[in-house]
Amino acid sequence: MASDHALNPTSQSLTQDPVAAEPIDPSSAKREILHNLLQEAASFNLSNTSSLLYHAYTSLPHSSPSHHVNWAGFYTLDPTSPHTSPSLILGPFQGRTACQTIAFNRGVCGTAAAKKRTVRVHDVHEFPGHIACDERSRSEIVVPILRHWKVVAIIDIDCAEVGGFDEVDEEYLGRLSNLLSKSCDWAS
Ligand code: SME
Repeated sequence: MASDHALNPTSQSLTQDPVAAEPIDPSSAKREILHNLLQEAASFNLSNTSSLLYHAYTSLPHSSPSHHVNWAGFYTLDPTSPHTSPSLILGPFQGRTACQTIAFNRGVCGTAAAKKRTVRVHDVHEFPGHIACDERSRSEIVVPILRHWKVVAIIDIDCAEVGGFDEVDEEYLGRLSNLLSKSCDWAS
């Protein structure tokens, strides 16, 4: 006869979703949802992709911090900004209204754009210069989209929980960035 111990989930990451009969591993649910998102995004523009992102994250199990995403969208390179001081301009998004222009090197978005690398912020209150568009945001991930080694846009996702993003988000949003770099017309 099995002991009570043997009946317990073997991994601490397994949690019971309130509406599911079986335990769900939040990181596996995230992989599956983001994998499906990549398939759909291949034929979508930035507007539809912002919707895909927002609804993909908020459809995650409540036990996943990423379920509490409150903003998902894009900033694109402002083609009117000087090459010597480039800036980003608000693109398609889902969420509350946001600041319309962000200079390279400012905030999380401008930092990712200037450094040409993903910036994942565990707690935005600990990030000097974080731009608070929505006071509910507590963590953030920004992934640059490069075309011919030039930043053409950034993917920005905010979460109302600290620690909303992990290496799985970095992996899949990096793939999304590569996909959008090729699938969108970035001519200005
Ligand atoms: N928090 C960002 C600003 C954009 S909003 O999050 C939509 C930043 O610090 O760059």
